[in-house]
Amino acid sequence: MMQVVQIHRNPPRSPEAAFDPARMVPYGYDETDYGTPKREGTAVTLTIDGREVTVAAGTSVMRAAIEAGVNVPKLCASDSLQAWGSCRLCLVEIEGRKGYPASCTTPVEAGMTVRTQSPKLAQLRRGVMELYISDHPLDCLTCPANGDCELQDMAGAVGLREVRYGYEGENHLKDVTDASNPYFSYDPSKCIVCNRCVRACEEVQGTFALTISGRGFESRVSPGQDQPFMQSECVSCGACVQACPTSTLQEKSIIEFGQPDHTVVTTCAYCGVGCAFEAQVKGSQVVRMTPYKDGHANEGHSCVKGRFAWGYATHRDRVLKPMIRDRISDPWREVSWDEAFSYAARRMREIQAKYGRDSIGGITSSRCTNEETYLVQKLVRAAFGNNNTDTCARVCHSPTGYGLKQTMGESAGTQTFKSVEKSDVIVVIGANPTEGHPVFASRMKRRLREGARLVVVDPRRIELVDGVHVKADYHLQLKPGTNVAVLTALAHVIATEGLISEAFVAERCEAKSFAQWREFVSRPENSPEALQQASGVPPALVRGAARLYATGGNAAVYYGLGVTEHAQGSTAVMAIANLAMATANIGREGVGVNPLRGQNNVQGSCDMGSFPHELPGDRDVSDPTTRMLFERAWNVQISPEPGLRIPNMFDAALAGTFMGLYCQGEDIVQSDPDTQHVAGALSSMECIIVQDIFLNETAKYAHVFLPGSSFLEKDGTFTNAERRISRVRKVMDPLPGLGDWEVTQRLSSALGYPMNYSHPAQIMDEIARLTPTFHGVSFAKLDELGSIQWPCNEQHPDGTAIMHVDRFVRGKGRFLLTQYVPTDEKVTRKYPLLLTTGRVLSQYNVGAQTRRTENVQFYDEDRLEIHPHDAEERGIRDGDWVGIESRAGQTVLRATVTERVATGVIYTTFHFPESGANVITTDSSDWATNCPEYKVTAVQVTPVEQPSQWQRAYRSFSHTQQRLYEERATTAMAGK
Ligand code: SF4
Ligand code: SF4
Ligand code: SF4
Ligand code: FES
Repeated sequence: MMQVVQIHRNPPRSPEAAFDPARMVPYGYDETDYGTPKREGTAVTLTIDGREVTVAAGTSVMRAAIEAGVNVPKLCASDSLQAWGSCRLCLVEIEGRKGYPASCTTPVEAGMTVRTQSPKLAQLRRGVMELYISDHPLDCLTCPANGDCELQDMAGAVGLREVRYGYEGENHLKDVTDASNPYFSYDPSKCIVCNRCVRACEEVQGTFALTISGRGFESRVSPGQDQPFMQSECVSCGACVQACPTSTLQEKSIIEFGQPDHTVVTTCAYCGVGCAFEAQVKGSQVVRMTPYKDGHANEGHSCVKGRFAWGYATHRDRVLKPMIRDRISDPWREVSWDEAFSYAARRMREIQAKYGRDSIGGITSSRCTNEETYLVQKLVRAAFGNNNTDTCARVCHSPTGYGLKQTMGESAGTQTFKSVEKSDVIVVIGANPTEGHPVFASRMKRRLREGARLVVVDPRRIELVDGVHVKADYHLQLKPGTNVAVLTALAHVIATEGLISEAFVAERCEAKSFAQWREFVSRPENSPEALQQASGVPPALVRGAARLYATGGNAAVYYGLGVTEHAQGSTAVMAIANLAMATANIGREGVGVNPLRGQNNVQGSCDMGSFPHELPGDRDVSDPTTRMLFERAWNVQISPEPGLRIPNMFDAALAGTFMGLYCQGEDIVQSDPDTQHVAGALSSMECIIVQDIFLNETAKYAHVFLPGSSFLEKDGTFTNAERRISRVRKVMDPLPGLGDWEVTQRLSSALGYPMNYSHPAQIMDEIARLTPTFHGVSFAKLDELGSIQWPCNEQHPDGTAIMHVDRFVRGKGRFLLTQYVPTDEKVTRKYPLLLTTGRVLSQYNVGAQTRRTENVQFYDEDRLEIHPHDAEERGIRDGDWVGIESRAGQTVLRATVTERVATGVIYTTFHFPESGANVITTDSSDWATNCPEYKVTAVQVTPVEQPSQWQRAYRSFSHTQQRLYEERATTAMAGK
């Protein structure tokens, strides 16, 4: 059933009224804007309009009044921003004080007696409003914000009936609208210069793109240096639009469709931050996504993707009918769901009859919900009868699971995002949060502006190194592939300079493994000086960073794919865990080991048993007790043998032993390394079933296409990088007619293993029954609590915010030796440069969604970054086409000549299929998990004038596949 809440344009006036269970929101949904931020402090009691009110010291009079249910008019105040005190609408009278102080900037005092209403106050407020309205277009009835405008509300609240000054005086009514941003417009004629947008950009987003230019009457909001928004530093996060009390900054979707009539609270389906949003809907049309103030991961903030890039959900490229074909050279044929399922099941069974039970498998996706992912691995284990299930987490964070489990006993991050507010030292390794995890980056930057110190370990000069009001104390600009050398050198300094937290280690960690580790890292060959040649990092910087991490107070490590996607990815994760344990930076707020997960549900797909060796809850499939639990529940025998990992599936396909694949929501052709190897493997298979929303690169090799649903069409849960399980709620019915979970269920039934869930909530109930870390999790509980960080069990019925508080999950923390081993991807005379890869803010992963939105206006091609020195040596100028060649393949991109990369290092993104970034990446992978070494590829770069051979072949193949889709037979009914 759809979860709906009616929007209340006029916020409830008492806190109790905001907690109305009949409104069907997950938990105390309180739209009230309290005017100024909440404070923590000793209790202070005062009287407001005759009511005794007790609040925390430091609270504003305005907030105290609103908390007590007393409405105070306001325009420049908002509880997500520090008080500004410019509009003078919130004036009050305070006994014993002269004048009429602004309640938003006046802190409460014990015994204070405040009056918010009096004839004089009413007169003053009307005067203020008259001035505003006299310089405002009187187009309320046709204004897109009509009904959702605080200026309009306040005119009513103060009882404004006439404007004595007339409207003929000097005004801004002819000011020109800036519509340069694809998602919102800026109409200066409606601006009341309340400064909320400027403060939102500074305080909430941390970009500082806006100022108020001019003085007095000439004051106007100015992006950058009086530039249009699109040419300024603005990153389109939408915080200013959210903050604007008028229609000055307005979403274009609201201008086009009008105001919503209901909202559904759901979770963003892009990155691992897991921001909660209100999907605002008019009829069945989404008209706006606004960040949910009570979202535990984002607390009312957003980035350009979640906030604006949702139009792909109804893009014309969506494929909505099931399709089949015998060979990939045949045109597609639209069929009914029943025919698609029986065709798919028959072909998979035929393959098993011919090649054996283990000749087929499935790949689940970290884009899908926990419930959908759980069903795919269940189908593989129960209906296929093998453990050939893997997930795209294989190619991103599998070393995180392995490394953290080995050292601390749990395969997940240790903190909440909020924990960063208590950090004194922040270490960012192999992650670029401002691009990849932007909402968390805003939170981190706020803490850095408050004075936390920063260490960045990255081959590139990412924004955090030298950003606006944020500077790294240390940038360890290492050579790609040398994380373990640098992390071990940091440990060397900590061990040899007496910086180990001996008491913590003695109490909480294994004595034997610690002693071995201490001896190992203390060896001279692990000193920063000895490892400099490998890493390229000056020893003084390593020593300084190590001392800061060990002695600077609460120190937290945040790391990303720049750590995991290496031949020594698992070793690097262990090295980070070692550092945290040795310095006692674990088990409380402000510290910890924090993997920044790439996709929305990476954590969840790992938790749900997607890996071939693990059943849900990270439990080994070879363990008979665990197997028996699932065998009883599922009424099948489960094979004790771990199945194939994704790269093994490809190798087995080329060897002729793995011939059928069910691939849900994952574009392996574009996202996995060594594209030509992947394409070759898929071409060798006899039946590929792709379930997706678009005919993606993988679907071009498919024989069955099962149309999938976007997150707006789903009920379920995602688990973000904090282990936070959040609800995804259906905003509209699945466009193909069946939800993704129903598709898997029907496919399973066609294979002879019936599944009979009637709602995803029942799937979660089963997960909770069978998975100790999920005990007690249910949709009802999630609705009640808003979100739950697992483990959720009898000891922690509401979940666990911080892990390893009194003891490590495995008992004693275990130190592991982290010998640096140079990667095989070494520079040679033939391949003298190292290619590393990453993401940009506006595009997402393989770009299937963001490329189908206006985000292409921000970034429309993958470029190759190259240092000026390397460029000059090769005669490459900015914008030139360059060929990039590795031992795996060749592609051609345009060059951006920049000092963001060091000499010897080049960098690109992988958001556009025709770029072929993964044609270059090789089969090198992590020793423990097979996570591909995307971050290091030895290459040569030369100026060229035409696309690579692969690109020409790709275009031709894609053109053919598009034609086969367009020529599809459409006669069959594709109903249920
Ligand atoms: S959209 Fe975000 S970055 Fe751009 S001006 Fe507004 S607050 Fe600043
Ligand atoms: S654009 Fe909106 S938020 Fe910014 S100053 Fe003008 S009215 Fe205030
Ligand atoms: S930070 Fe991530 S989860 Fe949040 S809105 Fe952006 S893409 Fe979505
Ligand atoms: S709300 Fe207090 S001065 Fe504007």
